[in-house]
Amino acid sequence: MEQFIIEGNRNLSGTIPVSGAKNAILPAMAACLLAPGTSTLHNVPHLIDLKTMSLLLRVLGAKVEMENDVLSIDASHIDSYEAPYELVNKMRASIYVLGPLLARLGIAKVSFPGGCAIGTRPVDLHLMAMEALGAHITVEHGYINAKADKLVGADIYFPKSSVGATINALMAAVLAKGVTSLFNAAMEPEIDATIDFLNLMGAQISGKGTTTLVIEGVEKLHPTEMEMIPDRIEAGTFLIAGALSTNPVTVTNCNPNHLTLPMEKLRASGCELEVENCSITVYPPEIIQPVDIITLPYPGFPTDLQAQFTVLMCLADGISFIEDTIFPDRFAHVAELNRLQADIRVEQNIARVKGVKKLSGAEVMATDLRASAALVLAGIAAEGKTVISRIYHIDRGYDHIEKKLNAIGAKITRS
Ligand code: EPZ
Repeated sequence: MEQFIIEGNRNLSGTIPVSGAKNAILPAMAACLLAPGTSTLHNVPHLIDLKTMSLLLRVLGAKVEMENDVLSIDASHIDSYEAPYELVNKMRASIYVLGPLLARLGIAKVSFPGGCAIGTRPVDLHLMAMEALGAHITVEHGYINAKADKLVGADIYFPKSSVGATINALMAAVLAKGVTSLFNAAMEPEIDATIDFLNLMGAQISGKGTTTLVIEGVEKLHPTEMEMIPDRIEAGTFLIAGALSTNPVTVTNCNPNHLTLPMEKLRASGCELEVENCSITVYPPEIIQPVDIITLPYPGFPTDLQAQFTVLMCLADGISFIEDTIFPDRFAHVAELNRLQADIRVEQNIARVKGVKKLSGAEVMATDLRASAALVLAGIAAEGKTVISRIYHIDRGYDHIEKKLNAIGAKITRS
């Protein structure tokens, strides 16, 4: 199994580019199932999760090809409706095929996703939305079986904001008969991107950027082509790398409008930020100030940056409190950071981070995608050598992170 060996070095400087957003590309890939023909996605990075989704689409009958950063999906023939356990088990976002399969074929069988390193993560809201649209759902032998002669538009109220359930509901409702309204829908930029993609396919969705989305069902959709949005979480991770450095770092190919709150928190920690259209330069502070954060649905602070921001707070001059309200158990990185001599205690869903003068390199283990990114940042900021095992987690969501960070001065070897 591969590992990262990191020689601590806080003298990062230069320009680091951001890739396309995994969490916008996954739904777009699933959405391709809605229309026969070939759709094309641009700005697609090389990520394990996207390979897993490609594999799943192929199992369903689609032809998927990647050339450089262009992904083509030919969904002319969809001859299976089953998302098997082996793939759903690898990646929960496999559940994104549920809505499109139901809409196109009237039937879907998707393995029930289990828990994962960041918590139990139920899918009840996905199922509630499908049922509201008229699907008959049963769960048997670890599989969700869904059937509908024809989906019919409905009013759907989400009791909780859910990115995945909103996306699945959108993808099912676009071909339903009549009008569907989603209330308390999620508003993440990845939802907007999915709406743009579906509308380019011929869907009629309005309300983008709000919590109420209205979908007028259409008879059929057609394939399309779209440039994928930049990954705001990768951008945020690199901004935090810059904040931990001793020199300025410029993050390019990003969308600053998607990072308002993370940027506000970085400013509160003492960073100066220079924001341009598609780039942000972070000037790190001499002394990092403690800042509290609470993760919330967008436009709140993203849970996907919680672990990385915690690393910054490990070196702050004082105590900060980091609360995760989205995934209350998402603190697997804490024990590993404490191995690097951070001083963090977790009670329920709040980490109390007491800043230390320095982190000290050690052997640690990656437990999930964002926790791994946090450990990479901590390894760069620590004195001495850090070895991170199980780095396959990081390849799920970051395209050659070590190459990108090494280009601005980090010393990371994959072995
Ligand atoms: C998406 O997961 C992202 N994944 C996650 O990113 C991200 O952490 C999360 O949204 C929150 O922003 C993808 O986009 C592929 P949710 P998702 O449904 O859709 C509860 C990463 O590192 N809930 O918005 O699964 C749930 O338990 C990943 O890239 C239900 O109760 O998240 C959570 O508390 C990790 N029932 C809250 O809602 C449901 O049916 C929000 O989850 C669904 C969710």
